[in-house]
Amino acid sequence: MRKVLLLTAALATLPAAAMAADLEGVVDARRGFYSLLGANMDALVSMVKGDTDYDGAAAQSHADNLKLLTSYNMGHLYAPGTSNADMPGKTRALPAIWEDMAGVQEKGMAYVQAVEALNSVAGLDKAELGKAVQQLGGTCKGCHDDYRAKDF
Ligand code: HEC
Repeated sequence: MRKVLLLTAALATLPAAAMAADLEGVVDARRGFYSLLGANMDALVSMVKGDTDYDGAAAQSHADNLKLLTSYNMGHLYAPGTSNADMPGKTRALPAIWEDMAGVQEKGMAYVQAVEALNSVAGLDKAELGKAVQQLGGTCKGCHDDYRAKDF
């Protein structure tokens, strides 16, 4: 009897441990996804600021990357149990995300529209790129203000 109980306990802890590892993988993937947005955005901002020379083809390719990523289905990256309350120090995703998915979606829609707008002008000229990047940056901030913690 005792043996059976121990075995049950071992089986019960196994999936829980596997689950925790999976959730860490989800957080890594989510942060990786957002890092891709950051890397493309940084390259565009650098051109707008003049830290690197404006290059229409390069600007267009970053805009294309951002557009491509808008078709990525992010549902799995927001698995329950992956907020900064659940996993302190590993993520900055605020619990507000899971309490207000409609609000997140709304911020996401504004973001997607700004990416579309960027995509249609990025390769044309620097001034147009500047306006579109500024607008896009506002939509990143709009989501971060409400749904991302400032620190870990
Ligand atoms: C709909 C909401 C939303 C939008 C829009 C959004 N982000 Fe984020 N972003 C988040 C959340 C939530 C996190 C925190 C992820 C985590 O820590 O698990 C994050 C994290 C990040 C990070 C940090 C990644 C890391 O290493 O932890 C970067 C960089 C970033 N976002 C850049 C951007 C840029 C650039 C844009 C716009 C081009 C953008 N994001 C648009 C919600 C958003």
